Amino acid sequence: MIKKCLFPAAGYGTRFLPATKSMPKEMMPVVSKPLIEYGVEEALQAGMSDICIVTGRGKRSLEDHFDVNYELEHQISGTDKESLLSDIRSIIDRCSFSYTRQREMKGLGHAVLTGQTLIGDQPFGMVLADDLCINPGGPGVLAQMALLYKQFRCSIVAVQEVPRDEVHKYGVIAGQHISEDLIRIEQMVEKPAAEDAPSNLAIIGRYILTPDIFDLIHDTQPGKGGEIQITDALMAQAQRGCVMAYKFKGRRFDCGSIAGFIEATNYCYDRLYS
Ligand code: G1P
Repeated sequence: MIKKCLFPAAGYGTRFLPATKSMPKEMMPVVSKPLIEYGVEEALQAGMSDICIVTGRGKRSLEDHFDVNYELEHQISGTDKESLLSDIRSIIDRCSFSYTRQREMKGLGHAVLTGQTLIGDQPFGMVLADDLCINPGGPGVLAQMALLYKQFRCSIVAVQEVPRDEVHKYGVIAGQHISEDLIRIEQMVEKPAAEDAPSNLAIIGRYILTPDIFDLIHDTQPGKGGEIQITDALMAQAQRGCVMAYKFKGRRFDCGSIAGFIEATNYCYDRLYS
């Protein structure tokens, strides 16, 4: 039912410098597949085939990745290497891709607002590609959330419990438990100090957003770090109506950090090659 998925991908990826000096962080490969391709696969599995990417300067290789490369494909056609491109070819055949550029980095909320021109007036999924989510043998996190959306018809954020000394890295939620894995949000704080955090339930980079979020972001003042925060706009949405937090099934790797990236690489390598 939800067709579009937004990928904010304009960030600099400074934690991976110098690798990300001229290469988008979303193109960093976990084993042999770029991070963003894992995210697009997850979106597609959830039925979202309209892929909307918010890019920025120096991110052109993202567009090239989701396009044909005639010369290369011609060269390896008929050889045993051809199969290495079959996954990405199938993604390209099944998805449509559109792009817009974020000219200034003013926070995740601002990136989402930049994507409004691609999304229009409909509910949409959102993937932050540096959170790599894997649910072996079951539906991906976005597919789990799309199912919940059918039931609740409101914005949903994926959450997981994190150690208290890590809450300052995340948006943190609290609210009323509807079931063991579903919480109706009453409080949301972007990157709180451990002592100010309303819980240890951290938002991870999977969202379903209803389109009224755009007006709410428009009215959101700069928050943490002087940036427009999606967490603050979602808090306003929760106060006006309803926003759910969902404790997803599966594993999440923080590929925005070196340690998380290496962990994801080892995990995927083991799954693929052992
Ligand atoms: C963003 C969000 C934060 C969320 C996190 C998940 O932060 O602002 O609320 O918890 O993604 O990865 P960032 O990691 O971009 O600083």
